[in-house]
Amino acid sequence: MSEIVVIGSINADLITVTKKFPRVGETVIGEDFTILPGGKGANQAVCAAKLGANVQMIGCVGNDYNGRFLKDNFAEYGIDSSSIHVLDNVPSGVAQITIADNNNAIIVVSGANGKVTRDIVNRYKSRIKKADIVVMQLEIPIETVEYVIDFCYDNHVKVILNPAPAKKLNQNIIEKVTYLTPNKIELQDIYGRPKEEVLRKYPNKVIMTAGSDGVYYHDGNQLVNVPACKVDVIDTTGAGDSFNGALAFGLSKNMLLPQAIEFANQTASKTIQKIGAQTAMPTLEELK
Ligand code: RIB
Repeated sequence: MSEIVVIGSINADLITVTKKFPRVGETVIGEDFTILPGGKGANQAVCAAKLGANVQMIGCVGNDYNGRFLKDNFAEYGIDSSSIHVLDNVPSGVAQITIADNNNAIIVVSGANGKVTRDIVNRYKSRIKKADIVVMQLEIPIETVEYVIDFCYDNHVKVILNPAPAKKLNQNIIEKVTYLTPNKIELQDIYGRPKEEVLRKYPNKVIMTAGSDGVYYHDGNQLVNVPACKVDVIDTTGAGDSFNGALAFGLSKNMLLPQAIEFANQTASKTIQKIGAQTAMPTLEELK
């Protein structure tokens, strides 16, 4: 069975559906409201687990109502949550998500996610060493992400870094990750260069998701575009996360990179056909 370790954020998603995004200073009446488990790390872990991977989630929640709800949620997907730390005096992470016009806008308040330190990671080094692949994002402290990347590089463990939300990354870190998976905005924020140039510089390594334009990467010979599947979009929240979770799953099952990207693209297109992130992610059976 594939062994995936996800180190990252866990949030309660406070989701408002509305007909249009309010302008600054404007009040609009929304259509619907729900609270669902989210966080880029948790979503990626759930995606891989729903597809059938053995997943360990490393992260932090607060000792509050959301924290209990979020930690319990992992059990439903068979994810090992013994490495989720419940911390006093800090709230669980929350994400305020507004959905309108087939798109979303998200504000994350990190809370306990900001406490995922190298001391916490150190407790799981033996498990990380045995992983087929480690998956991280940038909703936990960057020092911790860099520390794990160094550790994985030294121990020949593959890493997918989903640089979301975008932050400037050390060149050294970019060299050490196995795959970097920005969306087109993140790629622009990190490199400030045209995508063709960046993808050519990092063939089979930088994989750019581009929403309705599909996925782009360079295969060493040419720029490749994997087109998005034509589907009715209901909610794009978690599309990138399901891409990353499925990519990790595919690679851990020894799919070749083009095959794993194709698989991840299909998984993401399923996810956007329902509301929510984790709840919308498909099982392997549902992808057939
Ligand atoms: O990528 C979607 C996720 O981003 C949401 O679940 C939210 O929690 C934020 O982290």
